[in-house]
Amino acid sequence: MYISIAIDGPAGSGKSTITKKLAEQLNYNYVDTGAMYRALTYNFIVNNLTELDEEKINIILSNTTFKVYFDNFKQIVEVNDEDVTDKIRTPEVSNYTSLFAQSKNVRNFLINIQRDLAKENNVIMDGRDIASVVLPNANVKIYLTASVEERATRRYKELLQSDSSLKIDIEEIKKSIEERDYQDKNREIAPLVLVDDAIKVDTTKYSIEEVVEIIKKIILEKVS
Ligand code: DC
Repeated sequence: MYISIAIDGPAGSGKSTITKKLAEQLNYNYVDTGAMYRALTYNFIVNNLTELDEEKINIILSNTTFKVYFDNFKQIVEVNDEDVTDKIRTPEVSNYTSLFAQSKNVRNFLINIQRDLAKENNVIMDGRDIASVVLPNANVKIYLTASVEERATRRYKELLQSDSSLKIDIEEIKKSIEERDYQDKNREIAPLVLVDDAIKVDTTKYSIEEVVEIIKKIILEKVS
């Protein structure tokens, strides 16, 4: 039996950074489900689809080859044989992803891929619906959160780090985070929820290293 750890939480709560570090330290595969939603969204944009039209989504999905695998513990996502892993972090893809993540067809397409990865590997998987839908029997369930202000500040710094010449308005980032939170928490299918058996960790006042230590302790207590 493989072990699975579910990490859910809103945008900017530190999920991917923290999950990546935990995976490295615990020797698990890091499954980034957000990257899968982003990759499909990237492909919809390439196909000129920018609205939630289930019929068109279905047609594009049935003509898409989608592959997720690990290369030296790094998750690689390929769409139609193109490695899109590093192309899916733009604000445009972020905004459209919360739209396409509402699609029943998109979610059905990805859920089996995510479950299969957990059947064949020890995984630490991050997303919005991991504890509630994808892996309801996960060994450990963590819900990461932080204040909107803190999450906006983190995104702001991240974007400046990637390109220091960017002109970014932190209020705009905050607004976009609030909009994505609303969409992720209020959509009909698989909304972001805090399930009863999840442990909530508020990261607002902690450093990345501190959060990693807190969660590692929880995992090791439950799993060893
Ligand atoms: O974690 P992220 O920012 O890469 O996620 C991108 C979008 O995908 C975000 O709007 C929420 C959505 N998502 C989802 O609906 N379910 C998941 N399991 C993971 C991400």
